[in-house]
Amino acid sequence: MCGIVSYVGSEPKAARLLLQGLKSLEYRGYDSSGIALLNDSVKVYKNKGKILDLEKNIYSLSEQEQSEVEQSICGIGHTRWATHGEPNDVNAHPHLDSDASLAIVHNGIIRNYQSLRSELETKGFVFKSDTDTEVIANMFSSIRKELLSINAYEDFKALRELSSRLEGSYALAIIINDSNLNDVTKPVKRILLAKNESPLVIGIGDQENFAASDSDTVLQFTDKIVRLADKELAVISKNTIEIQDFDGNEIKPIIEVLKQNDSIMDKKGYKHFLLKEIYEQPTVLSKMLSLIEDQSFTNFKLMDFQIDFTNIEKVYCIACGSAYHSAQVLKSILGTWAAIPVEVIIASEFNYQVNFLSEKDLVVGISQSGETADTILALQRAKKTGANLLAITNRPASAINNLCGVNTYITPADIEISVASTKAYTSQILAHYLLALQIAVARKALAEEFFNEILHNLKMLPVLIEQTLHRANAYKEQSLNYANYKDFIFLSRGINHVTAMEGALKLKELSYAHATAYPSGELKHGPIAILDENVPVISISIPSKYEDEQVTAEKVIHNALEAKTRKAPSILLTTDSNQDHVSEFDLVVRIPDIDQVFSPILATIPLQFWAYYIAEDLGKDVDQPRNLAKSVTVE
Ligand code: F6R
Repeated sequence: MCGIVSYVGSEPKAARLLLQGLKSLEYRGYDSSGIALLNDSVKVYKNKGKILDLEKNIYSLSEQEQSEVEQSICGIGHTRWATHGEPNDVNAHPHLDSDASLAIVHNGIIRNYQSLRSELETKGFVFKSDTDTEVIANMFSSIRKELLSINAYEDFKALRELSSRLEGSYALAIIINDSNLNDVTKPVKRILLAKNESPLVIGIGDQENFAASDSDTVLQFTDKIVRLADKELAVISKNTIEIQDFDGNEIKPIIEVLKQNDSIMDKKGYKHFLLKEIYEQPTVLSKMLSLIEDQSFTNFKLMDFQIDFTNIEKVYCIACGSAYHSAQVLKSILGTWAAIPVEVIIASEFNYQVNFLSEKDLVVGISQSGETADTILALQRAKKTGANLLAITNRPASAINNLCGVNTYITPADIEISVASTKAYTSQILAHYLLALQIAVARKALAEEFFNEILHNLKMLPVLIEQTLHRANAYKEQSLNYANYKDFIFLSRGINHVTAMEGALKLKELSYAHATAYPSGELKHGPIAILDENVPVISISIPSKYEDEQVTAEKVIHNALEAKTRKAPSILLTTDSNQDHVSEFDLVVRIPDIDQVFSPILATIPLQFWAYYIAEDLGKDVDQPRNLAKSVTVE
């Protein structure tokens, strides 16, 4: 999703740093990029496509133009993920106002942009793009001119007025060309910032300051950051940072010193970040388990949550995409281990159910980025009801952590660069198991013996994942036979419905094939109509030592065979020693033996490989699939 980076300093390195910053925002997903530089005028360089294309375009400018680029000490940059207006050169950011007196980059959505645009058109402003951002540029320009005409211009005053006109979400960075002002009134080079519901942080350097959408972008330049809160405005120059709220109150910057993480943009020899992140899964899960290594039944806790779990009557999980899938595991196990009803709701649909909440409810928000607008807004609304909030994320510096504070569990998955989630997803599932254990123990719902058995099984996961990763070549070979199919159905039942959903999502995201997951019992209620020899059906059936769950596994096989009789190529994903009807399938994909209740993490891994190898074989952009964003910061 859109990313912002800005620089103001004393050395002529704005262009280089902005391009470097943009590269670190690539993982968020984008379709175009650009920078604007402030010298004696504001110049914009932007295009559809990759940052490499932008770089090539800049370095093929005339010598004179290039030297202008290279001497700039102030600028703003942007990666755009199209919301208003198709991805093209004109709609790419930065946007200039009508007379090129300022440039602006924006992350978010302005809901009232159409009425503002009509108002500005009647005042003579001319628009080149279809974007809501160009409306902000011209609106700010209009406000600025009016204030200048009565000698009342002030950066904060103009920003406040701008914010009072904008409805929606925005992180903004603006540079202004003041070269027409006389030397006495001319301000120093600076960047104006505004934040409402979209992420924005300031980085503090030595005689230079930065602003960006995420702290990791700033971290490559400085470890000191100031996080802007919603409804805050800032003006930064090379050696000053001033912050005010929308009401004009001064805000003292709170400086945080972050830990440097220099390995983030390194593929460590893997062809793609996705592959690297798949292989990081055992390490991430081991780290999580090592933190509870010394704990037992009497003192078990994933974390010291400030929540009285004995008082909770219902749990709501809110999340999107893969995080939403992961939550289904919490639903399955918390119901069984602690007899608490759990409802899993897609975050963007949650607002319609918020009226039912009370202080006896626990709302668990799950988000790898910690910045997903749908999830954050749902949590904000839940908070107002007095319900208990708890967050699971892998990003400490995130909005979800700010919102849920001490009740945030940070998984050690760290940042994911590849857009499709892998290690974040499996770490979320392990977090669900451990959270369910903590809640069940707190409510005295589990016998010690059962608790020990669960923990033992969870501790086996990293080794089993290692063993599964060693089978990558086999998964690759198997998957390539199916690379050219356009439609896939994934089936399972019970706890592994989540695996079917995640397997289908990974395949869709990476290979662009159409893939849908169904609880296998639903097949005959409609979807079976689409089956023929062109629609492979991948069924996930993991045996269990518990009778009910074993019956579930057997039912999946029967439903899968119903699909096979409709000529669908039939693929079974199961454990090494399961022999139930396996000879009737066209292909059997195996994982190491594991009981069904603990299998969603392990069973996902072959499906991650399938999606990866099929996408790679088809020549798709594995790490940055088309149209997708890593941090979905708009509703
Ligand atoms: C799938 C994927 C997305 C995210 C979803 C939520 O591979 O990455 O479906 O899971 O956009 O994102 P977060 O977890 O950042 O809230």
